[in-house]
Amino acid sequence: MFDDLKNKHIVITGASQGLGLAMAQKFTSHGALVAMLDIHEPKQKPEGKTMFFHCDVTNKKNIEEVAAKIQNVDVLVNNAGILRDASLFKMTEEQFDQVLNVHTKGAFLMTQAFAAKMKEAKSGSIINLSSVASQGNFGQTNYACAKAGIIGMTKTWALELSRYNIRVNAIAPGLIETEMTASIPEDIRKSMVEKIPFKRMGTPAEIAHLTTFLASQASSYIQGQVIHINGGYYL
Ligand SMILES: NC(=O)c1ccc[n+]([C@@H]2O[C@H](COP(=O)([O-])OP(=O)(O)OC[C@H]3O[C@@H](n4cnc5c(N)ncnc54)[C@H](O)[C@@H]3O)[C@@H](O)[C@H]2O)c1
Repeated sequence: MFDDLKNKHIVITGASQGLGLAMAQKFTSHGALVAMLDIHEPKQKPEGKTMFFHCDVTNKKNIEEVAAKIQNVDVLVNNAGILRDASLFKMTEEQFDQVLNVHTKGAFLMTQAFAAKMKEAKSGSIINLSSVASQGNFGQTNYACAKAGIIGMTKTWALELSRYNIRVNAIAPGLIETEMTASIPEDIRKSMVEKIPFKRMGTPAEIAHLTTFLASQASSYIQGQVIHINGGYYL
């Protein structure tokens, strides 16, 4: 189904662990070449053709240096993320700025740099990571704001970049088993799982599968959409 991904050039931010690492593994299993961008070294090296680039997505100069080293890009996945949770009155300005910087400004800077290459090639697929939290989540003023912002940017870029045959879509996962969710206190995580009709968290592989679908020609007429993948959480 994803044969067209063979030898495609994929750029993934935040690829050293969690969802980004699972995506890198899935893409290489289809014969794609993956540039893994992160501020930390990868927890493990996926089989297949990958290359690690140290890249802080909040740093425009750093992004431009990496973009200069990567000639072709067919697919960009804006996946890098952090949590700095606190309720409204406890959240510091720094916590707010940090989260907005990584998720929204990071996706903006990365897309500016790499969509320029797609524009020249008149082809590309950009996949942005949003979240169920975009609809509001206790203790996540900063994260909800960032993930709702991601949806706004996704739709804006879909409108602006369609003329260059670039597709832009977002994935909005629910609760997925990664290092990020492992940081949520056990009792809170349990009560969240109780609200999921499937009564389980999602796996990184399930998100990676959707990412490859949105990257491949199998989804060639899907544009500007937010695909929710949350085990029925919204029901
Ligand atoms: N895990 C979930 O349940 C879940 C749910 C919804 C959305 N998401 C989103 O999916 C994405 C991946 O989440 P995850 O669970 O794999 O998180 P994670 O914490 O396991 O991995 C995030 C990766 O991003 C990297 N990163 C952080 N700041 C960076 C920066 N400035 N520049 C480059 N890389 C940076 C980290 O080093 C890490 O490798 C995030 O955008 C997250 O918000 C996750």
